[in-house]
Amino acid sequence: MIERTLTIIKPDSVEKKNTGAIIAHLEKEGFEILAARMTHLTVAQAQAFYEVHKERPFYNDLVAYMTSGPVWPMCLQRDDAIAYLRKVMGATNPAEAEPGTIRALYGESIERNAIHGSDSPDNAAKEIAFFFPGADLV
Ligand code: CMP
Repeated sequence: MIERTLTIIKPDSVEKKNTGAIIAHLEKEGFEILAARMTHLTVAQAQAFYEVHKERPFYNDLVAYMTSGPVWPMCLQRDDAIAYLRKVMGATNPAEAEPGTIRALYGESIERNAIHGSDSPDNAAKEIAFFFPGADLV
């Protein structure tokens, strides 16, 4: 089934100039980019985006990290996009990610892990609307 999902190219990837390589990797894996923009999240935006993790011990560090530099949120489309992106991304911790996955190739730690991907259809819809509200995605 054709689905849409949300990825964010995280500050560590932008800082290390891995944005182009990660976009090329995603395109080679068959994702179409329906929307993309560069933004520097405010603390309030990062807190709202990661609200589901509010009670986790790493929440404040995650918000600080995600506001430490610019990021690229992108809406991606592909057959089975949500599960497939998670496969292509690899495990949250790059040390545990399968060789050849984006996090294995470009991530350095569980926090500086290169890229975000929506984990469910509900969250994908919410996260796409968060970054591209009212966008007329073709
Ligand atoms: P992401 O897919 O963006 O969603 C939540 C993020 O929390 C996750 O990637 C990790 O980068 C980050 N994080 C930081 N510390 C931890 C941790 N101990 N366990 C899980 N996620 C963590």
